[in-house]
Amino acid sequence: MSSVSESISGKVPNGATVVIGLQFGDEGKARVVDDLAAEHDIIARFNGGANAGHTIEHNGVKLALKQVPAGVFHEGKILYLGSGCVLNMVKLRTELESLKQAGIDVSDRFRISSQAGLIQPHHILLDTLIGGSVGTTRNGIGPAYADRALRMWGDRLLNIRVGDLLQDAEAVFALLQANLDAAKKMYGMGEELGRLVEGEIQAMREALPVIADFVEIDPLYVQKMADAGKRVLFEGAQAFMLDVNKGSVPYVTSSHTSAAAAYIGGDLPPSYHGRTVGVAKVIMSRVGHGPFVSEFGGARSEEYCMSLNADGSPVYGKAVEAGYDIEGLLRSDDDFEMSKAVRHLSGEYGTVTTRPRRVGAVDLVQLKTGVMANGVKELILTKCDLLNVYARTKNGKIPVVKEYRLDGKSIDFVPGSTALLKRVEPVFSWCEGFSEDISGVREAAGLPAALMAFVKEVEAFVGCRVVGLGVGPGREQYVSLK
Ligand code: IMP
Repeated sequence: MSSVSESISGKVPNGATVVIGLQFGDEGKARVVDDLAAEHDIIARFNGGANAGHTIEHNGVKLALKQVPAGVFHEGKILYLGSGCVLNMVKLRTELESLKQAGIDVSDRFRISSQAGLIQPHHILLDTLIGGSVGTTRNGIGPAYADRALRMWGDRLLNIRVGDLLQDAEAVFALLQANLDAAKKMYGMGEELGRLVEGEIQAMREALPVIADFVEIDPLYVQKMADAGKRVLFEGAQAFMLDVNKGSVPYVTSSHTSAAAAYIGGDLPPSYHGRTVGVAKVIMSRVGHGPFVSEFGGARSEEYCMSLNADGSPVYGKAVEAGYDIEGLLRSDDDFEMSKAVRHLSGEYGTVTTRPRRVGAVDLVQLKTGVMANGVKELILTKCDLLNVYARTKNGKIPVVKEYRLDGKSIDFVPGSTALLKRVEPVFSWCEGFSEDISGVREAAGLPAALMAFVKEVEAFVGCRVVGLGVGPGREQYVSLK
């Protein structure tokens, strides 16, 4: 008797690779993508917009990229922004100019899906007005995705997409103004707020000629490339725990960040999937509000890190913490005090804002959830060189969370309800520490035994192979464990 199962085959020769962060962002994905780009032909973004950010060094030039995919330094590779992204034209123009200045030409290899959403001036204002309690990046990301779902307000189009600019740009600019005026009126936005986007529509008008040539009007572009044998690498922005649906809602971004989303926002059917690579930091961090179970110092840390001056600058920024007695804080019995030193030594500050990021122990319960939910088979652990800061703490060991407690009961998953998640208590345990500087190590044989034992413990707990370790910010500071 013939059956369905014997007539189908799941194998995908040269399937696409998806790289995603498994925690709260800033895991060091760009480095991984940059490295993997060499063996792929198209590097595609599938979600988010200018809220993402990566700094890459090239020939001594430091480039802060927000929207252009991380594989930009690989000559000849195609860079693609998928329909799942939201585009800030003005910021993209600046990025393209900085690339040009660094001698990087993307003119014949950068494509933007005409179905990507357009960040409109009123999105930025709305995000500034209402995004504070989430702690958004104020790039207008949430309002842009909200308008995508709202589609229209009466006869007025809200979901303006990049491709609309190719049809009648002046009509689009008039619509941007109408949407801005309507939002200002509806939300009672004052003049002061309005100044934030003064001149923005004109700046978009000026950016259009730079961007128009990159717009791809064929929604099957990536698929046709893949059919022609090109290998696709999807670069996730933000991270799994910030997924609009799966993360700690509402303290999340507004797009889907999970591996599956690559095939919606990246414009390729899921049957082209090859493998998912997860990236996680061994000292965790989070920006913005929201549950962070393994945070050192819990609620005190959140409040401290999120304290802002009237002008929006952080009260306890990088410069303030640099003046602290770091060694004294490290030895403190109080995790909150220790966290200030850990943050300082691991450089966990917003690259632009210098906002202190909330820091915590690696949370293996959460990591296992992310690994399972995204089908991750290969895991890369970053910032491993920084684990040696724990050698200078009171017990000298590496803290990890391997158990959650909810109402006194042990649970082995991240509750899907944020209300429950907020009540979860971490159970800390400790792995042997090490004090060696491993930033110069390139072979597994040169790594301390305590680090290898830690890696084995992670693998055993999360049920996934750790294939490599980041041992510093440089592209070459990587140790393969294969
Ligand atoms: P939004 O994406 O600007 O709406 O911000 C929503 C939440 O996601 C905030 O907590 C941000 O700090 C966080 N977030 C957005 N993008 C990133 C990122 O690239 N890395 C880390 N956190 C991010």
